[in-house]
Amino acid sequence: MEYIDLKDDLDYSKLDKCADIIKKGGLVIFPTETVYGIGANGLDNEAVLKIFEAKGRASDNPLILHIANLKMLDEIVLDICEIQKKLIEKFWPGPLTIIFKKKDIVPFRVTGGLDTVAVRMPSNKIALEFIKKAGVPIAAPSANISGRPSGTKLGDIKEEFFDKVEAMIDGGEANIGLESTVVMVDDNKIKILRPGGITKEDLLELGYPVLVDKNVLGKSDGPLLSPGMKYKHYAPKTNCILVFSEDEEVMINKIKLESKKYNSSLVLAKKRNVNNYDNVLDMGDTLEEISHNIFSKLREADKKNVDIIFIEGVKSEGLGLAIMNRLLRACSYNYIYL
Ligand code: TXA
Ligand code: MG
Repeated sequence: MEYIDLKDDLDYSKLDKCADIIKKGGLVIFPTETVYGIGANGLDNEAVLKIFEAKGRASDNPLILHIANLKMLDEIVLDICEIQKKLIEKFWPGPLTIIFKKKDIVPFRVTGGLDTVAVRMPSNKIALEFIKKAGVPIAAPSANISGRPSGTKLGDIKEEFFDKVEAMIDGGEANIGLESTVVMVDDNKIKILRPGGITKEDLLELGYPVLVDKNVLGKSDGPLLSPGMKYKHYAPKTNCILVFSEDEEVMINKIKLESKKYNSSLVLAKKRNVNNYDNVLDMGDTLEEISHNIFSKLREADKKNVDIIFIEGVKSEGLGLAIMNRLLRACSYNYIYL
C-alpha cells in the first residue's frame, strides 16, 4: 500500500503513481471536498468489481462517476437537457451529482443495472488533478465499509482499507464532510434524491421547481429512485437515538431524562450545549461545522463503548436537511421529535 501525503505539500507529480494504478485496474482512496472516495477506472468492469468487494457493497447500489472536464461527460452520457446544462454551469465543479442517460461504454456494474448514470465533477484540486492524470472517469463511492459512517479524514479509514487498496492519497480533512447532493431532472423539475452540500435553497436559484424525494426524511418500502437509500447507512455499531425540538431546552431535558434509562451513555451535542451533559462530544455549532465533523464524531463516539449514543438534531433546512438525512439513518430511524 502506497501512502501519498498531499496534506501540506501540493506536489501533484506524486499523483502519477496513483494514476498508473487506476490505469492498470487498481483501487486508490482519494480526497474530495465532500468525503473520501474509493476509486477505480469507471469504464473497467473488473476494476469496478473490486470496489464492491472492498466495501462489501450490494451490487444493485450504483456508483458515481467522477470527471475532470466536460469532454469526459460527453463520452459517458447520452443527451443533456437544458436544466442539466444549467445545473452544470452553476454548480460544477462542486458537490452536486447529476443523473444522466448512460452511453453503452459505461458498464452496468457501475450503474447497478440501470440505464442511467450518476456523474459529478468534484472541486477538490487533488481530486481533479488525479482524475485528469488517470484520463478516465473514476467510479468512487464513499470510502467506508458499507453501512459505516463515511470517511472524512484518512486516519478514520486507514485500518478499514489498509490491505484492500493499492494507494491512499492524504488531502487532510474533507471540507464539507457530507456526501454530494444527488439530483435527477424529470418533467422540467429538479428532484433531490440525496441532500448534500448544494442545498434545496441553492437549487431553487435556477428558477425551476425543486422537489425533495419522500425517502430523504422518511423510510420507504416501495421502489427507490436512488437504490443506495435502502441500505443501512452511516451507522456506528453502538445504538443511537436522534432527539430534536425547536426548543433547545426541551431537547436537552429529554436527552437527560432518557439517558437515565441506561447504564452508560454519551451525547453528541452542539458546542453551546455541551455543559448540560456529563459524557459528551462537541460536534460544533453551525450547520457547516456539524456537517464537517459529524461522521468523524460518530466514529469517535463508537469507540467510547457506551450503551447508547444520543444525538442532538438540527432544523431540516439548508444544510440541515442533509445532516438530518444522515443522522436518521445513523440512528436506524430511532427518532424522538418533540
Ligand atoms: O460526495 C459524494 O458523492 C461521494 C464522493 C466520493 O464523491 N460519493 C458517494 O458515493 O457518496 P456513494 O456511492 O456512497 O453514493 C452514491 C449515491 C447512492 O445513494 C446511489 O444510490 C446514488 O448515488 N446513485 C448512483 N447512481 C444512481 C443512479 N443512476 N440513479 C439514482 N441514484 C444513483
Ligand atoms: Mg456512501
